[in-house]
Amino acid sequence: MRREAFESSELIKTEADLESFRLKYLGRKSALNQLLRSLKDLPEAERKQAAPAAQKLKKELEETVSFKKKEFLTEINESAVDITRPGLKPRPGHLHPLTQVEDEIKKIFSSLNFGIVEGSEIETERYNFDALNMPANHPAREMQDTFWLKERSKSGDERLLRTQTSAVQVRYMESHEPPFQIIAPGKVFRYEATDASHETNFYQVEGLMVGRNVNLANLKFIVSEFFKKLFGPDTEFRFRPSYFPFTEPSLEVDIRLKTDKKGNANLKTLAQSRRSEWLEVMGAGMVHPRVFEAAHYNPRDWQGFAFGVSLDRLTMIKYGIPDIRLFHSGDLRFINQF
Ligand code: DAH
Repeated sequence: MRREAFESSELIKTEADLESFRLKYLGRKSALNQLLRSLKDLPEAERKQAAPAAQKLKKELEETVSFKKKEFLTEINESAVDITRPGLKPRPGHLHPLTQVEDEIKKIFSSLNFGIVEGSEIETERYNFDALNMPANHPAREMQDTFWLKERSKSGDERLLRTQTSAVQVRYMESHEPPFQIIAPGKVFRYEATDASHETNFYQVEGLMVGRNVNLANLKFIVSEFFKKLFGPDTEFRFRPSYFPFTEPSLEVDIRLKTDKKGNANLKTLAQSRRSEWLEVMGAGMVHPRVFEAAHYNPRDWQGFAFGVSLDRLTMIKYGIPDIRLFHSGDLRFINQF
């Protein structure tokens, strides 16, 4: 039926041809329609095979008819069209720069054997703060002003828009056995005034590796592989002691990009505007025993490292973007540069 129909569709020359074609193959009395109606009498196994094939043919024939119909219409209108005028160039879309860098980061960590997990943007106070050794009144909470939700969770916990992807850590550990290594990219939210380097909504990538003997040297290796793959093999980095409630010891990672004649002028400007060639890019450390306890891991058995980076910040550095607010500006003059 299909072969016959498509062969005869080639012969349609006039609108009358088209109409008789339609009646013959799609009309109420058409063989195809009868076939469709008789499907219900087939044994189930056969029906499962035949039904999709028949439906597909019907759809294809309908498409053929509507395509031909359009052809006739344009023929009629042809005299009104000035075919010498230049056409409109289609403008292909593309991925947002943040998505591009996120994809690149996922690829890098996949090549280092890290799994990729997704957390929830709505979190409870427990996973975002308490389980990360940031109890109520902990001074570090003040650094992450929070959007609280009105309704509590089913278990009675306060709910919020997560302020950090670190919220993924205990949630993941509760349902997985070590050893493992994962990254968790995603949105975070802060109730803050915005400026060139602050947004109420930005993206982070969290990393977590847990095993029997995971140590600072492993963290250092992974971090350096990551930055070299993202920013080039000449990228230098350094560890600086720092403080986070959920890691001990805690550190921050700075990178220095090679700003040679070949380019990277943007990066140079960015570094110079901060009066230092070193750019702070990452918080990290060894997972605090209290965090393991919150996940019901025995801290005597397990060690791990964690890190968190701002995807927006890495993207700004990579492309020399001066203002974080450009990302969500919806300004095509900005977006089309990537
Ligand atoms: N959650 C921290 C922030 O938002 C970043 C961070 C620091 C994540 C140290 C970590 C870490 O996993 O170990 O500022």
